[in-house]
Amino acid sequence: MYFGTAWYPEHWPETRWPEDVRMMREAGMNVCRIAEFAWSSLEPLEGEYEFDWLERAIALLADNGIAVVLGTPTAAPPAWLTHHHPDTLAIEPDGRPAQHGNRCHYSPTSPTYHKYVRRIVEHMARRFGQDPRVIGWQIDNEYNRIDYSENTHRQFQHYLKEQYGSIEALNAHWHTAYWSQTYTDFDEIPLPIGPHNPGLMLAFRRFITRVWKEFQQLQIASIRMYSRPEQWITHNFMGWFDGFDHYVLCEDLDLASWDWYVGTGHHDYTRTGAAHDLTRGFKRRNFWVMETQPGSVNWAPVNNVLYRGEARCMAWHAVAHGADALLYWQWRSAPGGQEQLHGSLIGADGRPRPFYQEACQIGAELARAAGVLRDTTPRNEVAFLNSYDARWALDAQRHHRDFDPVAHLLHYYRPFASRNIGVDIVHAEADLSGYRLVVAPALFVLSEATVAQLTRFVTEQKGTLVLTVRTGQKDVHNALFPVLQPGPLREIAGAEVEEFFALDEPVPVYGEWEASLEGQGRIWAERLRPLSERTQVIARFGLANGWLDNGPAITRHPVGTDGGQVVLVGTWLSEALQDALTRWLVQAAGVTPEPIEAPPGVEVLRRYTSDGCAVTFVINHNRQEASVVLPGTGQDVLTGETCAGTVILPGYGVRVLV
Ligand code: GLA
Repeated sequence: MYFGTAWYPEHWPETRWPEDVRMMREAGMNVCRIAEFAWSSLEPLEGEYEFDWLERAIALLADNGIAVVLGTPTAAPPAWLTHHHPDTLAIEPDGRPAQHGNRCHYSPTSPTYHKYVRRIVEHMARRFGQDPRVIGWQIDNEYNRIDYSENTHRQFQHYLKEQYGSIEALNAHWHTAYWSQTYTDFDEIPLPIGPHNPGLMLAFRRFITRVWKEFQQLQIASIRMYSRPEQWITHNFMGWFDGFDHYVLCEDLDLASWDWYVGTGHHDYTRTGAAHDLTRGFKRRNFWVMETQPGSVNWAPVNNVLYRGEARCMAWHAVAHGADALLYWQWRSAPGGQEQLHGSLIGADGRPRPFYQEACQIGAELARAAGVLRDTTPRNEVAFLNSYDARWALDAQRHHRDFDPVAHLLHYYRPFASRNIGVDIVHAEADLSGYRLVVAPALFVLSEATVAQLTRFVTEQKGTLVLTVRTGQKDVHNALFPVLQPGPLREIAGAEVEEFFALDEPVPVYGEWEASLEGQGRIWAERLRPLSERTQVIARFGLANGWLDNGPAITRHPVGTDGGQVVLVGTWLSEALQDALTRWLVQAAGVTPEPIEAPPGVEVLRRYTSDGCAVTFVINHNRQEASVVLPGTGQDVLTGETCAGTVILPGYGVRVLV
């Protein structure tokens, strides 16, 4: 279990370092990330490397028991580089070069930039690749920029040629006769700015993924030339950010990590839990929280401070979801620069800010629990599927301004989280062995591999599959399937979508599986048509727009004679109905209910050793006291107390039980 911070020794006189590192150690920190924006300090002039200061910082940290994660500094190229080589600057969609000094101003496709990136990273790896004090590397920082340069444009055309083989094939898949888009050569194809042909837009997103993958591979190769294999390599992702396909980038990484910020307002565990689960799903193993906020940020509309105790709750929540590390961003704000007012552990006066005390408590507690948490990981019976292709295609054709694909997934996630049923979020093509229930929210674009996995899941594994609205309308080229939704899943769904409706007003929905249940569908509705006698209608629309009236809203189809079942949900249900549907699904799929009775706002999750021993986390996310009822006895790792029966947790209280 690692606990630490991002520190920028290059901002401070070296005489100050020992005091900072002493306070890190006293807060229980055992890891520190450094150097990820330090290029101008590491190579102040072209070809003149100054690594001694970094070596001294690493030594000081190590002397205090603090391991180092080294960031490659490529998110912030120095002024000498961008000035002498303007082709390294990213080009904005309007054709202007990005301004130097706001970081991420580089073009990830520039061959000149690649040359300089390779050089600085190789130099760092040569110097620190064998260093046992450096446990891992973070490549760059939060990839995000899209470059619209001529060079990127040419590479995109080249990529399309490689993907489609012939211009005829591309024209056919993109249906370019529409609006006379037909291309006679790959070099006629534009870079999409704003809305464009759906095939082109989806291909462009995949191309951007390729750009980042290659940029990352270049750095990984430079590190791996010199590093010992024990040094792992990661990148700090940004939760639900969709600038590229994270699964593709994670193929080349050893570890997934993410930067977790609340911004305005407060932590909602039924939402942020999903971002942790998403990150855990990138490599299907535990992950790191590489950055999180110590109190407040500086970039949100209102940069409020977290309530006292909230960050501690958040720390345990992350651990419960599989985080093996938590690092605060940042240790101390630079006196200059764009982030002067961001939350930090140390104040402008060089002394601890109030939040430092809470960090000390978290550090001490994580250290106490580290032994029992070793080699433990969450293990769940429910999986949610995530597809970047589907998200990109939907976002480009929301059809209803509120049809946000992430909000749609979270709408399904929330009632599982509030029932304390752990969830894995995995790639839509992932192997689904071991799950009882799979929720596939809005798989607008469906690949053959996904269809095969889902079919196997319900036929061979006899699982329960939930398909939601907007599923199976597009093929992998973002063209409409020549059949109705859910396209190639119609057979296992036992139903199809006769018509879809973006809703300007909610429509009534009532459940036939729980007669008393009535609610609404909003944003979206689909008129379902059963395709088999075995298909059961479990909810119907009430009187609505004339087209939906009394039609099936949710169907259930038992697959084969003793197979699984597919539930097709034809609207975005109101909260109470969604909750009722979840309750029914959990039962119908035979998902094990959480044995600890907990009131709203109290999260209960587990991590398991490979031989099945559990560590149970009970986290009161409420500011008020709450109590839970334990079915047996447990020992609280944090206090040593033995707990049984009714256990009272103060506001933001946490129990870690074995
Ligand atoms: C991001 C960056 C950090 C810092 C924080 C501020 O996550 O990675 O360098 O700018 O935001 O919240």
